[in-house]
Amino acid sequence: MAAISSPPKFPFARPAAAEPPAESARLRATEPVSRVELWDGSHPWLVVKHQDACSVLTDQRLSKERTRPGFPEMSAGGKAAAKNKPTFVDMDPPQHMQQRGMVAPIFTKERVENLRPHIQATVDRILDAMVAAGGETPVDLVEKLALPVPSYIIYGILGVPFEDLAYLTEQNAIRSNGSATATEASSANKELLDYIGKLVDQRSSEPKEDLISKLVVEQVKPGHIDKSDAVQMAFLMLVAGNATMVNMINLGVVTLLQHPDQLADLKTDPGLAQVFVEELCRFHTGSAMATRRVAKVDIMLGGKLIKAGEGIIASNQSANRDEDVFPNPDVFDMHRKRGDEEALGYGWGEHRCVAEWLARAELEIVFATLFKRLPNLRLAIPFEEIKYSSPTKDVGITELPILF
Ligand code: HEM
Repeated sequence: MAAISSPPKFPFARPAAAEPPAESARLRATEPVSRVELWDGSHPWLVVKHQDACSVLTDQRLSKERTRPGFPEMSAGGKAAAKNKPTFVDMDPPQHMQQRGMVAPIFTKERVENLRPHIQATVDRILDAMVAAGGETPVDLVEKLALPVPSYIIYGILGVPFEDLAYLTEQNAIRSNGSATATEASSANKELLDYIGKLVDQRSSEPKEDLISKLVVEQVKPGHIDKSDAVQMAFLMLVAGNATMVNMINLGVVTLLQHPDQLADLKTDPGLAQVFVEELCRFHTGSAMATRRVAKVDIMLGGKLIKAGEGIIASNQSANRDEDVFPNPDVFDMHRKRGDEEALGYGWGEHRCVAEWLARAELEIVFATLFKRLPNLRLAIPFEEIKYSSPTKDVGITELPILF
């Protein structure tokens, strides 16, 4: 009798550097809806085609509530965190939109357009400091640019005073850079939460024009949410996209250096930053583990019966390399002809990234400015020596020595 084999372990490992797992490409061709095995021995479904991922992310019969049995958790830490009081990222309708709607107006495309001068000034200030320190000896771009840009911007939106930015950015880095110990990471987490708690108190007595004041005045004071909800929501906005932003800035720099023709095009016309960022977020899917759901009832998908209580992982990373939607998907081409289908780097459906326009604007401004300001920017090490995140974690770069 043939032995019954377990499904393959997930997350699949990247073969090298920032290359996506070969296993995803194989499944796209052979078994687009299949079982995988997670760290805890559970066997959720993995969906790897663009069309199926979109259908999962818009299916009201699926849930994002992590307290439901069967919800696929990616680590023991995640499983423990799933018991905490949720924020909107882990809610279903109608609560999801009620709470998301409390912050979403700050992040609309129009509001973000108005923020562009502020984002540009922040990027310029960070680059000024980097240039002043000199670039003849290697400088770590992660520390000097990629980390401060997204932190400074979101802190500004939340209403953190300027003098506290450096300290809080450091805490945020400790919290999310995989090399800190669990104790260091949880103490940095607590520092950030305590800090936001105090800021919420201050804005309660003296509101200003910032997101924390908006939450306090419009939601906490009228009794729609508790102070602790406001703290958790502000914390979510602070940490949700931070590591992804850092990774996308680093990956963007390396991708341009690996494609000198496209870098030359961007230097000649910084207006190409928008299509560059579009392709960057397709090619490198910086947030590839968030698009998970659990079935509330039995559903059929790709000819497979998914039963109530079974988990589903919609691989936006694999969908972004789906050859049926993006011809020559493994080629980085910012000039590629785009069809009607969008890449899924920011997710799809109701939980699609609430700060997508902000993230795009930050990346566009960074890439339109960086090589104009530092036209000789180059790596201080060979490409082969770049330190990437662990092969089963979200793609990223942990250290990037450059010269300019
Ligand atoms: C390049 C940068 C970013 C990428 C690639 C990204 C990607 C994503 C993805 C894939 C999701 C969907 C998760 C799902 O379906 O469950 C998401 C949701 C979310 N993102 Fe982002 N994100 C980025 C930047 C940011 C930033 C800067 C922030 C905060 C300022 C942020 C805050 C959020 C929040 C709060 C959600 C949950 C939305 C909801 O559940 O309604 N993201 N993001």
